[in-house]
Amino acid sequence: MKIAVLPGDGIGAEIVREAVRVLDVLKKDGLPIETATAPIGGAGYDAAGHPLPDATLEIARSADAVLLGAVGGPKYDTLPRPLRPEQGILGIRKALSLFANLRPALLYPELAASSSLKPEVVAGLDLMIIRELTGDIYFGQPRGRRTNAAGEAEGFDTMLYSESEIRRIAAVGFETARKRGRRLTSVDKANVLDTSILWREVVSAMAADYPDVALSHMYVDNAAMQLVRNPRQFDVIVTGNIFGDILSDEASMLAGSIGMLPSASLDAKGKGLYEPIHGSAPDIAGQDLANPLATILSVAMMFRYTFARADVADRIEKAVRAVLASGVRTGDIAAPGERVVGTRAMGDAVVAAL
Ligand code: IPM
Ligand code: MG
Repeated sequence: MKIAVLPGDGIGAEIVREAVRVLDVLKKDGLPIETATAPIGGAGYDAAGHPLPDATLEIARSADAVLLGAVGGPKYDTLPRPLRPEQGILGIRKALSLFANLRPALLYPELAASSSLKPEVVAGLDLMIIRELTGDIYFGQPRGRRTNAAGEAEGFDTMLYSESEIRRIAAVGFETARKRGRRLTSVDKANVLDTSILWREVVSAMAADYPDVALSHMYVDNAAMQLVRNPRQFDVIVTGNIFGDILSDEASMLAGSIGMLPSASLDAKGKGLYEPIHGSAPDIAGQDLANPLATILSVAMMFRYTFARADVADRIEKAVRAVLASGVRTGDIAAPGERVVGTRAMGDAVVAAL
């Protein structure tokens, strides 16, 4: 079990440190875990002049799985785009063909009060967003800047999906739905975009191969609205890169805090990159304030998806539930008046529960 550990920037180092302590416990219990740490994002730029240094990509390539913290910070905001920390993430996703991004939004009953929605709307929330991660307007060519006939500056990007790209992500959607509540909602903008018309055709044509899954289609604007109106109507959502980026941030808030949600980005063979869905939070970095649970839960996903060890994943998730049930809270998930602990103490609690 070779794991590349890429802490990144901001709170990345602190949250990854606690997740690595979880790995250490599992290793002591006999799992053959080996880790190698490398810089990415702003830290990659500082160390090697590039957000995705060659040496880091090499370590990630030769590992079975990658654990990533977060990237970005104000220090790097003025760098030209190819050198910005975000390019480290986008680059590693593309280089490792991590096309399937799984973003579960699960509300722990103890945290119902932290959701921005009424407890009765979100109670029992358990949905999975499957976001395509290596195509769409994120990577489509041509893109760039030009001057138009009137002499005015223009910026342009290309939204683009091929049939095979749609088919492989839709297959992940159908397969995932099959293992869950057997309902799949494909989200697009087929009333406006050609890309989406093709998307809908391809997904619809696949439905015959999955007669046990109920497929429905929804426009992305409606999906954004339905997610706050009645999020429990969803089981699995499958969508493109940009729509998934936006909807998954929205869904994270339903679950109480963006500090709770893990993610997996998988290639066709189950190799994966695991990261919390939140960012590097430079405003609270280095102050022992960040919630490490999304990163720890990302380790659980790693065991479920890459190492096919659902038992280990269950054990980590159970430990996190026990910690929440015992009332341990970082600031982002504390109700008014509840005692708040730091990053390290939250890690301590999970390690103890394990
Ligand atoms: C995410 C992030 C990234 C994205 C950024 C950091 C490039 O928002 O993982 O959702 O847009 O994909
Ligand atoms: Mg995002």
